[in-house]
Amino acid sequence: MLRWIIPLAILVGTIAAVPLAVIARARVSTSEKPRLHGWQDMDNQPRFKAQQENPLYADGRAMRPPVPGTVARGESFLDTHLYQGRVADQAGKLGWAQSFPDDLTVDSEFLARGKERYEIYCSMCHGYAGQGDGMVHKRVEQRKQAGVAGFDAWAAPASYHTEIVKAQPVGQIYNTITNGKNNMAGYRAQIPVADRWAITAYVKALQLAKPKQAPGN
Ligand code: HEC
Repeated sequence: MLRWIIPLAILVGTIAAVPLAVIARARVSTSEKPRLHGWQDMDNQPRFKAQQENPLYADGRAMRPPVPGTVARGESFLDTHLYQGRVADQAGKLGWAQSFPDDLTVDSEFLARGKERYEIYCSMCHGYAGQGDGMVHKRVEQRKQAGVAGFDAWAAPASYHTEIVKAQPVGQIYNTITNGKNNMAGYRAQIPVADRWAITAYVKALQLAKPKQAPGN
């Protein structure tokens, strides 16, 4: 056997163990440097993160504020009648709107939409005729009578056929749907503006129709 073959085998064996040792070390230690990224594929690009500094601008901010006077298209909520159910009187003071916003056409289709939305979002509490006797309320009453604990805080849904609610202008009903009232939560997140007005129209229609018996009246 050649004499140099044993030292060579030892040398090759030692060198071959180096990558394994490096990997073993990397697995138990942490590093500040980013990991090796062999194929760039435009994965890293220069950019600014939110709220970062940028010395290029006089104010030093990377995020640019909108040009003064900018109004976002389709996102201006300046129409208080449509969005808040309130209109300004001659002195500029806002009060409940007595009429529907001009952008909406109040016809039978609108009312049908309101009925459909009402039955989805409101009837389970207020009842199909708006008498405050929806299924959820009935169930609570049933449980209470059966002596089940935990329903003491239940607030009965209002009837729409009381003088107080009947006297409310459409803007105020719209506002109740939007922002809620006392124990009732608002529905601004679930129901779009036009549908809230459609439901308002339907609530008014329910008030005009005479319920058979009106609890809470
Ligand atoms: C989870 C049950 C519940 C649902 C759903 C609900 N309400 Fe109510 N609503 C109430 C309760 C409770 C009250 C009484 C609030 C109070 O005065 O404490 C009320 C009160 C009202 C009033 C009378 C407000 C006033 O000024 O006295 C109106 C109008 C009304 N709701 C409309 C609606 C409409 C329209 C919907 C559907 C978009 C709806 N509610 C959905 C529980 C509900």
